[in-house]
Amino acid sequence: DLPQTFDRPVKIAVIGGTGLYKIDGYVPIGRVNPLTPWGYPSAPIEILEHGGVPVAFLARHGEHHQFAPHEIPARANIAALRSLGVRSVVSFSAVGSLQEEVRPMDFVVPDQVIDRTKGNRPFTFFEDGLVGHVPFADPYDDKIAQIVRKCAKSMQGEGVVLHPKGTAICIEGPQFSTRAESHMYRSWGGSVISMSLLPEAKLAREAELAFQVICMATDYDCWREGEGDVDVAMVMARMGGNAENARRLVGAVLDELARPENADLVSAKHLEGASVGAVAFC
Ligand code: ADE
Repeated sequence: DLPQTFDRPVKIAVIGGTGLYKIDGYVPIGRVNPLTPWGYPSAPIEILEHGGVPVAFLARHGEHHQFAPHEIPARANIAALRSLGVRSVVSFSAVGSLQEEVRPMDFVVPDQVIDRTKGNRPFTFFEDGLVGHVPFADPYDDKIAQIVRKCAKSMQGEGVVLHPKGTAICIEGPQFSTRAESHMYRSWGGSVISMSLLPEAKLAREAELAFQVICMATDYDCWREGEGDVDVAMVMARMGGNAENARRLVGAVLDELARPENADLVSAKHLEGASVGAVAFC
């Protein structure tokens, strides 16, 4: 049995998606499997270290990619990370592109998300007598986003292309979208499309975690004429083709977060108490 806790608090976490299973520069120093009121996380959490700073790494789809997007135990994942002391999360996701200029292999740091999941996934910690409503107008953390933009800029010469803003669409899946839906999402101003961006971000906000997703485009979904429609092989091939850049970018972001001047950000001081104010007392 793996331990439930690590011997010191771990403040920063990475949630790895399809294709991101390692981070450059970071070596494993521990493995924990916290049992939460919502069960176990998708996979045991690896504790990685670089420069003396521990970071938690969680494989969103499980150790053997056994969870479909709608099956991910997102509440257990967020609760398990928080139980280790985590206050800042960098989440990674392979996505389809809904815009010409977001080319496969490009990175996008979304600042908005549109929820097209079907309400089947448990999506809140506030229930069973605990009524709460957190602000979600800006679903991501611009302070972490700024760090991602800065890191990507310094890697431009090495083939890293990053779009600094964007609206992400999260569909229920597991089927990809129809062509009509894909065109509709484009007309809504969507930049990228994924199946696993939510409810993670909503739960992170309820848990007062600073949370930012980094997306990597793997396909043009099915809207672009002359381009093959998205399928799993296409996603995997493009993800594999750029996995090294993804690992390097995420590693650089973590190194930057770990710097002493970012201690307040990493501790999510700006979010402290946000959820307390969200709870409605009857
Ligand atoms: N993940 C990667 N590509 C995708 C797409 N086109 N639609 C939904 N999720 C995706």
